Amino acid sequence: MTDRTAIARFSSEDVEAHLAGLTEILHASVMAGASINFILPYAPSDAARFWIDKVRPALDGGKLVMLVSWVEGRIAGTVQLDCDMPPNQPHRAEIRKLMVHPAFRNRGIARALMMEIERVAADQGRSLITLDTRTGDKAEPLYASLGYVTFGIVPGYARDVSEDRFDDCSFMYKRLGPQPGASV
Ligand SMILES: CC(C)(COP(=O)(O)OP(=O)(O)OC[C@H]1O[C@@H](n2cnc3c(N)ncnc32)[C@H](O)[C@@H]1OP(=O)(O)O)[C@@H](O)C(=O)NCCC(=O)NCCS
Repeated sequence: MTDRTAIARFSSEDVEAHLAGLTEILHASVMAGASINFILPYAPSDAARFWIDKVRPALDGGKLVMLVSWVEGRIAGTVQLDCDMPPNQPHRAEIRKLMVHPAFRNRGIARALMMEIERVAADQGRSLITLDTRTGDKAEPLYASLGYVTFGIVPGYARDVSEDRFDDCSFMYKRLGPQPGASV
């Protein structure tokens, strides 16, 4: 990474102000085959709608944290932390929508985003992080190297972005602190 790389926390106003860059990274990721809930055909307008209709209100509601990695004035990566958990899981949060623009991959941006979102989670008192990722994707060993443990694989969980095929999904967790209620 260069010293012109920075990670920023985005508000809903930031989403609106930087909609073009966010649309570009989501659209490019899906077009490059990312398994992040969407399937083809996928237009830039679909990506823009995701940020405006889903992410902006969640940020306004204060239950979602979104980080963006800037490289030389461009949005190179992003990740979200969903803190909207049921009342019996105040210690848990879920990682969502980790993506790095195809033009910026393999330079440690995802790893840096994950380390920063974990710091945010810990600051918010979240000691248990969960996530899911397509089994066999590049993200899986990245998460494992960050200490995430696979607790289950669901066969045929999600459709491939372009092919008529349903892929397995790995569910993972990481503890950032002691297990609540566990004796030490
Ligand atoms: C998965 C994804 C987020 C990884 O982003 P990334 O920024 O390329 O990842 P990083 O560079 O932080 O780390 C990935 C690998 O590159 C390596 N790397 C880091 N810096 C590097 C460098 N300067 N040169 C070469 N490799 C490097 C890392 O060691 C890591 O290696 P690993 O495969 O052994 O884990 C990206 O491929 C992506 O957006 N995929 C599509 C969306 C997706 O699948 N998201 C996950 C949803 S759960």
